[in-house]
Amino acid sequence: MNLKGRNFITLKDYSPEEIGYLLDLAADLKAKKKQGITGSSLKGKNIALIFEKPSTRTRCSFVVAAVDEGAHPEYLGKDDIQLGHKESVEDTARVLGRVFDGIEFRGFKHKTVEDLAKYAGVPVWNGLTDDYHPTQILADLLTMKEHFGYLKGLRFVYAGDGRNNMANSLMIGMSKMGVHFTILAPKSLWPKGELVELCKGYAAENGSTITLTEDTDAVKDADTIYTDVWCSMGEEDKAAQRIELLKPYQVNKDLMEKTGKDTTIFMHCLPAVKGNEVTEEVFESGASVVFDEAENRMHTIKAVMVATLGE
Ligand code: CP
Ligand code: NVA
Repeated sequence: MNLKGRNFITLKDYSPEEIGYLLDLAADLKAKKKQGITGSSLKGKNIALIFEKPSTRTRCSFVVAAVDEGAHPEYLGKDDIQLGHKESVEDTARVLGRVFDGIEFRGFKHKTVEDLAKYAGVPVWNGLTDDYHPTQILADLLTMKEHFGYLKGLRFVYAGDGRNNMANSLMIGMSKMGVHFTILAPKSLWPKGELVELCKGYAAENGSTITLTEDTDAVKDADTIYTDVWCSMGEEDKAAQRIELLKPYQVNKDLMEKTGKDTTIFMHCLPAVKGNEVTEEVFESGASVVFDEAENRMHTIKAVMVATLGE
C-alpha cells in the first residue's frame, strides 16, 4: 500500500484498509524494536514538531519514532515561532515546508492544521487539535487488536465529554473499523449531528452501529469502556460545570461491573484526572490497559511517519 506524501489530519481521509495497513506496520515496527532493531526509513529527513499545547506522549513519541528511523526532529513550542501571531499560518507553512520534510502540529484550531497541510507541500500530521486527535486512535486500535485479537464486532463505550477531540476521533476510527460505538454522555455534551451522521454512514458500510445515550445501562456487554478528561486543554474554566454534568458518568467499579462481562477493558488516552472521569481503583485494576495505549502511541506514530514519508 502506498501512502507516500499523504497528510494525516483525521481518519476521515483514510479507508479501513489503509488504517489496517498502518496498524500492521505499527505492529511490525513494534516487534522489531522489541528485538533491538530500528530502521533507517527516515534517514536524512528533518521533522518539525509544532506544539501550541503541552504534551508528554505525543511529543516524546514523535521524537523517539523519528530518531529510531534516522530522522532529526525539531521541537517548536508556542513561544519559539510566530505562527498565527506575527506570521500567518500560510507563510509559516510555506517556510517550514521549504526547510523540513514533514510537520507535526498540536494546537487549538483545527483549521490551523488544515491550513498547514494546504500550504506546506510536505506531509502534515495532526498531533491533536480542539476537534480531533487521530494518532491517538491508531494507538487505541492497536491496543484493542493486541488485546482481543480482532476489532470488527467489538463493543466500545465512550463515557464522559462526548463532544471533545477524543470522542469525535474515536467515533470516526471505530466506525471505520466495524467496532460498535456508543457515546454515553449528557445530551448537552453529545457530538455534532453532522459528524454523527457521517460516522453512521461509515458504521453501516463496515457492519457496526453508532449509539448516543444518557443511560448508563448502555454499557451492558461492552468490551471496552473508554474515558477522557472532563475538561480538555483550554477548557479549564469549565471545571465546576463539567464535574456537575459528568459525575454520573464516572468510570468506577459499578460501571465496569454493569457490563456483565469480566473481560471488559478500561482505556484512557491520558493524562487522567483520577477521582473525576475514572476512579483510582479502575485505573489501577487488571482491566486497565492505559500504559499499553501510551506505549503504542510511539509505534503507531512511527508507522504514520514511515508510511507517509519513509523510503
Ligand atoms: N494522549 C496524549 O495525547 O497525551 P499527551 O497530551 O501527553 O501528548
Ligand atoms: N481531550 C484531551 C485529550 C488529551 C490527550 C485534551 O484535548 O486535552
